[in-house]
Amino acid sequence: MNLTSVVSYPDRGPYGDWRYRGNCSGRLIKDLIKFYKPKSVLDPCEGGRTARDVCRELGVDYDGFDLKDGFDLLTSPIPAKRYDMIFFHPPYWDIVVYSNDPRDLSNIREFDAFMQKLFQAIERLGEYLSERGVLVVLIGDVRKRGDYYPLGAYVQVFHRRELKDKLIKVQHNVASSRRWEGCQNFVKIMHEEILVLDERRGQPDLHTPAVEKQKSDSIHRPSEIR
Ligand SMILES: C[S@@+](CC[C@H](N)C(=O)[O-])C[C@H]1O[C@@H](n2cnc3c(N)ncnc32)[C@H](O)[C@@H]1O
Repeated sequence: MNLTSVVSYPDRGPYGDWRYRGNCSGRLIKDLIKFYKPKSVLDPCEGGRTARDVCRELGVDYDGFDLKDGFDLLTSPIPAKRYDMIFFHPPYWDIVVYSNDPRDLSNIREFDAFMQKLFQAIERLGEYLSERGVLVVLIGDVRKRGDYYPLGAYVQVFHRRELKDKLIKVQHNVASSRRWEGCQNFVKIMHEEILVLDERRGQPDLHTPAVEKQKSDSIHRPSEIR
């Protein structure tokens, strides 16, 4: 399977519920599975169950959950297993608000607070990866009242050492007009990022020079930025 760093799926395929807000293309998940060859997949924000359908077709062991069914990825029990791939497609901050449940990531108003929860989620999910496992984060940037919030950039900076691959996905059929509200003078965001994290790469002594570590330690996470 040949996969390049720019992907585009105008047709999302027959996977999951196409009416679910913010659903993604099953063809993307299919290509990721064919490339990384996981034997087991976890989707902790499965929404319209796109990944579930792809895994069923490919015969890959799958567990999927979502807050809409009562599962909170930060506190609910996750099966005591290790997964070869965790496909994490969180809400893009509050661009689509999924519920008024206080645990809902899309229900967090403050950007800093949202990013903190996102980092907590990535940390927790990382504990469920197998030896060869990858954590795939599908994420999009947000523009709000003219300000640009590069969600994926934060993840890349704070997980630089774990970053194994990065893909840009061209977006099609963007339903959320809120993403453009009051932004007529700006370039429309028509892409998402797929960040493939490999926790083993994060071992500081493995391949990261000490000076690099010092540099990244001196960068602050969003809540510390004033
Ligand atoms: C972008 S959607 C995922 C779409 C999915 N990949 C699909 O193709 O349909 C994000 C999902 O995260 C869920 N979510 C939000 N906060 C959550 C939490 N704390 N725990 C688990 N799921 C959460 C929402 O209910 C929503 O279904």
